[in-house]
Amino acid sequence: MNSEQDSDGRGLVYRRGVPPGSEQVVAALYWEAFGRKLGPALDPPDAGRAFIAAHLNPDRGVTAIADGTVVGVAGYQLGGRALTGGGAADVLSAYGVLRGLRRLAILALFERTPEPGELVMDGIAVDAQHRGNGIGSRLLTEITAIAAENACRRIRLDVIDTNPGARVLYERHGFVAKRTEQTPYLRRLLGFGAVTTMHRALPAASRGGE
Ligand SMILES: CC(C)(COP(=O)(O)OP(=O)(O)OC[C@H]1O[C@@H](n2cnc3c(N)ncnc32)[C@H](O)[C@@H]1OP(=O)(O)O)[C@@H](O)C(=O)NCCC(=O)NCCS
Repeated sequence: MNSEQDSDGRGLVYRRGVPPGSEQVVAALYWEAFGRKLGPALDPPDAGRAFIAAHLNPDRGVTAIADGTVVGVAGYQLGGRALTGGGAADVLSAYGVLRGLRRLAILALFERTPEPGELVMDGIAVDAQHRGNGIGSRLLTEITAIAAENACRRIRLDVIDTNPGARVLYERHGFVAKRTEQTPYLRRLLGFGAVTTMHRALPAASRGGE
């Protein structure tokens, strides 16, 4: 995908950005993929999906579209903004101060600040009906292109221990596990007991903007 969008032989269209009007669909994909993890911070589900949809940064995602509907999305954080937005004030305003503070504490666990020259992935999700067809791979390829165009030296992401399939996918795309943080205290609350940080280095020759 060199231009804004292109399509493959199966009628899937890939484009940069979340198309206007697709915020709810993207929020639903996110919730389906990450609801177990996000639930304690943003539940009930309807409220969580609405919060995500209302605070998306559409230009920080890549989408796959089938028959006009977004069926896959990969978000990233670059230049201080990620696909999923909404700051402390937004959480307190949506949930009230008392209920909001606990939620903010949980959301803080997921905060990831990119180092200079780093693009941090902000989630990848493909509709369950469309998985296993290469959409996730294509979205990862596009994220790599965006990182290279922005002269990033590497891409970073986190994968939880309950998702070995996603880890295999990342390894296939050149990501290497760098460290694993054991989080047994989060297993009951958020459903996972360890988080592995993975890096994919980008060769200097592939980077634009240098
Ligand atoms: C991970 C995910 C984005 C991959 O998208 P995809 O379009 O199925 O990916 P591809 O078709 O390019 O690659 C398929 C590979 O992804 C991995 N994978 C992980 N979970 C999978 C799932 N539920 N179904 C199919 N493949 C999955 C496997 O390694 C698979 O390879 P295989 O077909 O040889 O077993 C998608 O499965 C998904 O949305 N999962 C739920 C959300 C999630 O786990 N996100 C990652 C969080 S770190």
